Amino acid sequence: MTHAAIVGWGKCLPPSILTNQDLATFLPTDDEWITSRTGMKERRISHVPGIELAITAARRAIACAGMSGKDIELIIYGSCSNDETVPNSASGVQQRIGATQAAAFDVNTACTSFMYGLSIGTSMIKTGIVKNALVIGVELISQYMDWDNRNVAVLFGDGAAAMVLQESEQETGVIAEKLQCYADSRQILRVRGMGTMYANLGVQFGQTSWDFDGREIFRKAVQGMSEASLDVMQRAGVTMDDIALVVPHQANLRIIDAVAKRAGAGADKVFLTVQKYGNMSSATAPVALVEAVEEGRVPAGSLVLMPAFGGGLTLSAHLIRWGQRMTPLTPCDAELPPSPKTALEIVNDIRAQKKLGEAEAARFKTLSFPENRTG
Ligand code: ACO
Repeated sequence: MTHAAIVGWGKCLPPSILTNQDLATFLPTDDEWITSRTGMKERRISHVPGIELAITAARRAIACAGMSGKDIELIIYGSCSNDETVPNSASGVQQRIGATQAAAFDVNTACTSFMYGLSIGTSMIKTGIVKNALVIGVELISQYMDWDNRNVAVLFGDGAAAMVLQESEQETGVIAEKLQCYADSRQILRVRGMGTMYANLGVQFGQTSWDFDGREIFRKAVQGMSEASLDVMQRAGVTMDDIALVVPHQANLRIIDAVAKRAGAGADKVFLTVQKYGNMSSATAPVALVEAVEEGRVPAGSLVLMPAFGGGLTLSAHLIRWGQRMTPLTPCDAELPPSPKTALEIVNDIRAQKKLGEAEAARFKTLSFPENRTG
């Protein structure tokens, strides 16, 4: 049976760091509240478009695999913050890495976009449609954040990661997965202002207001990620004792702790990045996996469990068997240009550009959606 081994991995974090103290300069919040409620201390803010983060991560992953862009047969761009919609973002990566023979498409399941992309890429390799795939998780949340809303503004950051999958006769890569969506909860996380219906109301694209029921998201996330984790362990016939590391989506330290407890994982088995990157949506889980490998936390041939959730509410869990290699085959010199501004300066520029007029903000709040209507 053919499998889809992970043979290349790379990440790209923008260099500018936004601290809790930076956030407190323009929001009624403080380091103590953010740290105790979320575990977050810092997050990154990008000075370049999201696709530049994606391309840099992709180049690093391709070099790690000892391949070049022209070898790549499929590009999956997982994101909910694309720089543009037509043409798609995956084709932009394709052009820049020179993958002239590749197929290329975007996937949006919010924070689980990379994980859904990993399943699609794996399936297309297993069914013989392609021999390899480049899967990317990238997010530029800073551009559509509602920076005046402390409920959400403290939680997110920008970043990207990419992985190269390649056909293999060894049982490596994704060995069990669960994908699901709690569509009845789609209204508890909504970014008003992103989409064509808002343009019809005269709203300028990118001006946003977030619907965010933090407590309900918390509850559903814990339920969904822990049930999906137990499901994949059962499907694969393994227990937590067989798993070397849990690398979860990192939306809140307390969500991670609750999921780990329900799935039977001790704290020493859970890999964390939430304190330094916050929630980078679809980039979160793959960045964490890349860092876990770089830090030697993923032994050769070991099992990694990756539970995740996102707006929709989509949820997933993947059980991955790592291969024999933990180091890149080829070095890579891909780098972002230096940032001319601090993270706080970038955020203040975005805030100045996005200041909502009173009338526009009021119109956002009165919009209703099909799931809110009765009858
Ligand atoms: N600073 C200070 N106070 C704040 C802040 C802040 N940044 N944000 C909210 N508060 C206040 C609220 O205004 C509210 O005050 P009130 O009670 O006077 O109205 C109070 O804090 C809210 O307190 P709690 O609801 O008890 O806060 P909780 O401990 O539940 O933490 C949080 C809130 C962090 C949002 C939590 O519910 C959470 O993490 N939810 C899930 C968030 C999440 O996963 N987001 C990502 C979803 S997208 C994705 O990853 C797919």
